Formats: sequence, C-alpha cells, structure tokens
Amino acid sequence: MNKNKFLKLSIAFFLAIFICGKAYSASKELLKVDWSFAGFTGKFDRSSLQRGYQVYKEVCSSCHSMKYLSYRNLGEKGGPEFSLEEVKAIAASYEIEDGPNSEGKMFTRPGRSSDHFKNPYPNDNASITANSGAYPPDMSVLVKARPGGSNYIYSLLMGYEEKPVDFILEEGVHYNKYMDGNKIKMMKPLSDNLVEYSDGTNATVDQMAKDVTTFLTWAAEPHLEARHKTGIKVVIYLILLATLVYFSMKKLWSRVDAEK
Ligand code: HEC
Repeated sequence: MNKNKFLKLSIAFFLAIFICGKAYSASKELLKVDWSFAGFTGKFDRSSLQRGYQVYKEVCSSCHSMKYLSYRNLGEKGGPEFSLEEVKAIAASYEIEDGPNSEGKMFTRPGRSSDHFKNPYPNDNASITANSGAYPPDMSVLVKARPGGSNYIYSLLMGYEEKPVDFILEEGVHYNKYMDGNKIKMMKPLSDNLVEYSDGTNATVDQMAKDVTTFLTWAAEPHLEARHKTGIKVVIYLILLATLVYFSMKKLWSRVDAEK
C-alpha cells in the first residue's frame, strides 16, 4: 500500500468513527440544566433541596426507597438544612416497625431522627410484584449510578411523550425519550400542581423535576459543598506555595548568577 492510500484510508476510518460517535451521542442528547451545584464553586440551593424533599416524600417515596438516608441527614449542614424541630416532626410522621419487645413481638412506634428512611415495601420482591414486574430502584445513590447523572434524571422526568405511531408498547409500558430503548415501566410520575409547595413556588412539572433532581443529587453526594470548599483552599494553598518557591529560588540562584 502506498503512503497516499494509507493516509486516505486512515482519514476515512477516523471520520467514520467520529460520525458514528456523533450519531450515537445525538440520539442520547440529554436536556441540560444550569444547576446551582455544578462547577468548581457550586452550592446546593437550600430551598430547592427542601422542595425536592417534599416531591420525593409526596410522590416518589410511594415506590422508591432511599434506604441509606436517615431523617437526621435532612438537618445536616450542606443538605436541605431543616431545623431540628422540623426533622423530628418529619421522622415522627412515619410509623416505624421495631422490636422484638420483651414478649418477643414486633411493634410500631413513631419514627426518630436516627431512623433510616422508611421503605415503601417490606422487601424487593414485594416492590417488584406491586410494580408489575419492574423494580423501582433505590434512590439513595441513583444519580451516581446513571451516566449523565442529574441531567439524566431531569431529562427522564421531562421525557414522557406521545409514542411514534409505529412504535409498539406492551401493556404497562410507557414511552420515554430518554430511557434505554424508549420504554419505561414507570408511568409519568409528575403533573402540574401535583404537590402544593409550602414556600408558595409554582409547582410546574419542570420545577418539580428540577427540585427533586437537586434533592437526589445531594443524597448521592452529601459532601459536595465541603469537597468544593476544600478544592478552593487547596488551589489557594498551591498558588501561595508556588509563589514562595519561585521567589526563594530566585534569591538562592541570584548569588550563583552573580559569581559567574
Ligand atoms: C408508581 C410507582 C412509582 C412512582 C410513584 C415513581 N416511580 Fe420511578 N420507577 C418506578 C419503576 C417501576 C421503575 C423501573 C422502571 C423500569 O425499569 O422500566 C422506576 C424507575 C425510575 C428511574 C430509573 C430509570 C432508569 O434509568 O432505570 C428513575 C430515575 C425514577 N424512577 C425516578 C422517579 C422519580 C424522581 C419519582 C418521583 C417524582 C418517581 N420515579 C416516582 C416506579 C415509580
């Protein structure tokens, strides 16, 4: 093979890969949101986190568990930062199974701040049966578990559309633009004014999708703000250190240079 032919072939090869890659990513193009927590100095929007918890509690929690979270996490710094009283009241609004007591019987009691989020189903199989064969994944770290993270969750919630005419959907399956294969066994969970926000915010589907995604992002990465803060400190430290090293080097070598 002469050099010219080889060059042409290689260019064609890389072009083909590039075009295929573009076509693939275009079919998966997610909606993008200007999240307050994105970027190097990003922080969670406190009121969005609190509203997001309200959406999780009133809508998603009837099917999705969040078993790695405890009610007290809702009051911790860097999270929704509910007050101590609010956290206690939230926990106490749940009936938690406990025991066995001195007679060997299980009993229920009002939740405490230290309890884990109550699971909507007694076990995974019960949740699969209740959802006609589909498992509603635990949401504690779901944002981390899906490529595209927060943008994916938001897109999925906004991605329910009329199916194309020739698209075949089985019973209990819904069309979603962003789900793998465009088929999802979760019906559209959000509709306008489904919740009544306690802070008076207008509960559009878009607003609720953003708020609940913010809440789920915090749940999956509760130390994001602390990490960003440390990052900034490290950068400032490195700049100071570099400046110091530069000037001490200049001073040290000035004598050598002078002696030359
Ligand atoms: C009626 C029960 C139900 C409710 C309510 C519900 N979901 Fe789901 N959800 C499911 C089921 C079932 C699946 C699994 C779907 C599948 O595998 O096809 C699922 C899957 C998901 C997935 C994962 C999709 C994927 O990539 O695998 C996300 C994200 C999700 N739900 C978000 C939410 C959010 C956010 C809410 C609340 C606003 C919510 N769901 C409310 C039942 C529910």
